[in-house]
Amino acid sequence: MGMKEKIAEIHAHFSDEMQSLDSTQSLESLRVKVLGKKGELTALLRGMGQLSPEERPQAGQMINEAREKFTGMLDEKLREFKAREQEEALKKETIDVTQPCDEPAHGSAHPLTLCLNEMVDCFTGMGFEVVEGPEVELDHYNFELMNIPKNHPARDAQDTFYIDDNIVLRTHTSPMQVRYARTHQPPIKVISPGRTYRVDSDATHSPMFHQVEGLWLDTDISFTDLKGVYSDFLRCFFETNDLVVRFRPSYFPFTEPSVEVDMMFTSGPRKGKWLEISGAGEVHPNVVRNYGLDPEKYIGFAFGSGLERLTMLRYGVDDLRLFFEGDLRFLRQFN
Ligand code: PHE
Repeated sequence: MGMKEKIAEIHAHFSDEMQSLDSTQSLESLRVKVLGKKGELTALLRGMGQLSPEERPQAGQMINEAREKFTGMLDEKLREFKAREQEEALKKETIDVTQPCDEPAHGSAHPLTLCLNEMVDCFTGMGFEVVEGPEVELDHYNFELMNIPKNHPARDAQDTFYIDDNIVLRTHTSPMQVRYARTHQPPIKVISPGRTYRVDSDATHSPMFHQVEGLWLDTDISFTDLKGVYSDFLRCFFETNDLVVRFRPSYFPFTEPSVEVDMMFTSGPRKGKWLEISGAGEVHPNVVRNYGLDPEKYIGFAFGSGLERLTMLRYGVDDLRLFFEGDLRFLRQFN
């Protein structure tokens, strides 16, 4: 068989195989099979030694032409494959922006946070400022300056977590009255929300709970103002005028006269039952003195309200401990 025929034979097969290529991989193996070091065409080149010197140049030229032709065909096919592959990749990566997506899970505010925000809104609307104080408090501020001396029986009423003889977890937010009044000039009109602690736990008590302290002190703030401001607050917080509330005479060492504010559940399992929501009263002259002010000149009222209690009434929740259990079935209802 002459060189021409041999090349024609290789060309024929090459063309056949070109037809059945389906990937860049099969293309590269065809390239190796024909043009590689041990390829069919390369073998012809190696066999040139057996030709006569006159035949060699022509044979060499034919082989080289074939080589160029094959290379050209392979390269063109390769470009085709690459373009096709890119197109497929692009198609696969297309994003359909009209598809609905999974909604990301998001949290929501805790019912106590919602209610505290409401309280803050109501009181700031009446001109009160919001201030905060320490939860780990000196016995001196928590008790003594609030007119509760050491060994006073009122200390028992507030079962205290002691850190040492002089330091407690505050049992109420009232120490903020002194902290604030000692560093600010009257008129004073503040609320002070925060955590408080007592050794106590049942459906209406938790060892950690929240109070919102209020203090309005000026030269002429009377008990009537307390009733007016507190009733306005309740109407604002519960968004109704239709409330069942009573101011019941009571006793606190730091107020005189003193009251407790009770409110009735008007729905839910506790319907018809009273719940104490706040202590309040005219600031005791001894406490005004502890503010560093003259009780003959300055007078005012204070209150300390239970945030959990107000939140229970607002949402008809009958067990305060639910607020701290972290049960999502409970918490999700307040979204
Ligand atoms: N500190 C009192 C308590 O925790 C509440 C209170 C505050 C009462 C201010 C009167 C005035 O029970």
